[in-house]
Amino acid sequence: MTASSLLAEAEALLPELTRLRRDFHRHPELSMQEFRTTAAIKRLLEEAGIRLMPIGLPVGAVAEIAGAEPGPTVALRADIDALPIQEETGLPFASEVQGVMHACGHDFHMTALLGAARLLHARRERLRGSVRLLFQPAEEKGTGALALIEAGALDGVQAIFGLHNKPELPVGKVGIAAGPLMASVDGFRLTVTGRGGHAAIPEAAIDPIVAASAIVGGLQTAVSRSISPFDSAVVSVCRFQAGTAWNVIPDEASLDGTVRAFRPEVRSLMPELLQRIAAGIASGYGAEAALKWYSGIPSVTNDGLMADLCRRTALALDLEVTEAKRSAGGEDFAYYQTKVPGCFMWVGTGGTEEWHHPRFTLDERALAPAAALLAGAAIQALEHFAGRS
Ligand code: NI
Repeated sequence: MTASSLLAEAEALLPELTRLRRDFHRHPELSMQEFRTTAAIKRLLEEAGIRLMPIGLPVGAVAEIAGAEPGPTVALRADIDALPIQEETGLPFASEVQGVMHACGHDFHMTALLGAARLLHARRERLRGSVRLLFQPAEEKGTGALALIEAGALDGVQAIFGLHNKPELPVGKVGIAAGPLMASVDGFRLTVTGRGGHAAIPEAAIDPIVAASAIVGGLQTAVSRSISPFDSAVVSVCRFQAGTAWNVIPDEASLDGTVRAFRPEVRSLMPELLQRIAAGIASGYGAEAALKWYSGIPSVTNDGLMADLCRRTALALDLEVTEAKRSAGGEDFAYYQTKVPGCFMWVGTGGTEEWHHPRFTLDERALAPAAALLAGAAIQALEHFAGRS
């Protein structure tokens, strides 16, 4: 692979990519409303001579760059949606949409993928197969990846690669790791049922608020007492609702929360564990607790071989490679990885704030390594599947 020239070519595209990214940044769109963004992506791909594939979705785009000879197909994915956050960066190209902001840098991701598309298209005669480009809507809602998979975007694909900007890593540094990288994301509701009554006559009532309070405390032991210290998980209760008046004990209290885990074995333990703890505590108060489980995104888990391939690609590009630090956040890239092996990478963007912050910023110079890394990973993977790695 002519890695050094890939990075040089990406750097030559930088002024254009920067303009593009700023345009996306000015016009952020929420999940499943990415109409302007989709139109812009399609126009840019068509102008570059890249073939769009029909997917039958109102938002998002899929395209394919076919090599001169038939061969395997690998995919590159970028997410394209923004968040319901009011931007506070004060940048000259800040969001022009009230209350909506690219605060997770998906504008960066799609621009990097457009850059990679240009690099790959220029090399199409030498590609040992095809590269599918997935511009995915609705990552923030966790529904976009499934929609693309159902639309057939992954049909015939042998491996997939994607990246997320990483504010704490400097430009030119990438984080790559085999195994779990981001957590599974599930939700739950615990309904605690007691018996309502007069606030001054508690002996005639069963107070669900007191029982639910004890349950909140008890749930903190789910991880510390039932999960191995060598594994990790998070249980957070984020909403506690009960009562209608200051002097009435209500019938019911409800607790909403989320569970994060990195291994499917740990994840699968959690519903029963939470139910058992909650029901046990509730019964001590004469109340009852029922759990409703909302299964969400699985964990982003990188294939060892594909992670190694990405690592070699990054090193060949003269990028600094570090072991990727895990995030307990979720990413629906995980759904693709339940279908085909893949690798999700961190790309250093030297920002000052974390994702989803109203003053989130990134260093646009990172667009060049990001584009080169995506293109390089696709080229390497094609070589690998064509049996020449
Ligand atoms: Ni994101």
